Amino acid sequence: MKIGRVTISDRAASGQYADASGPEIERVLQEYLGPNHTFLRTIVPDDIPAIAAALRKLADDEQCALIVTTGGTGITPRDVTPEATRQVLEKELPGFGEIMRLQSYAVVKTAILSRAVAGTRGATLIINLPGKPRAVAECLGALREAILEALEHLQGRDPHQPA
Ligand code: MTE
Repeated sequence: MKIGRVTISDRAASGQYADASGPEIERVLQEYLGPNHTFLRTIVPDDIPAIAAALRKLADDEQCALIVTTGGTGITPRDVTPEATRQVLEKELPGFGEIMRLQSYAVVKTAILSRAVAGTRGATLIINLPGKPRAVAECLGALREAILEALEHLQGRDPHQPA
């Protein structure tokens, strides 16, 4: 399976600081999905056209089954990840953001400052996560079962239907 991971940060894109959250996405997903997957790694600045283009490329050209972004989900003027993601989503999955915020809120009260969204484009599942490495693991933990089931549905294998 091809998995796109996109770090969205002006500072990481310009090399001002090392990206720790992108590798964390990879580490956690390998734990959930096993080691035999190809990760396509991208770092883009906090810019709507750049983010939307990266998502379209990974979904349409690379046919990634899953794309996970990190960063840019908050409320500073440069945080535009949800706006860019909505431009490319065909079907939104509001429950992903809701459960991320709800479960994270039990750990850190500032979790509700994240506007992360998720949804599908064709057969690709796209999920926004907040930017902190710790938030990546916390949020993916809340979404594990839904991600696994969504991937089955998008690949045409509904686990609830007889074969
Ligand atoms: N969610 C979890 N699980 N853990 C966190 O530490 N940080 C919050 C929130 N969500 C956090 C979290 C904070 S402080 C912010 S500002 C928002 O995510 C948005 O972060 P982002 O702009 O880096 O995406």
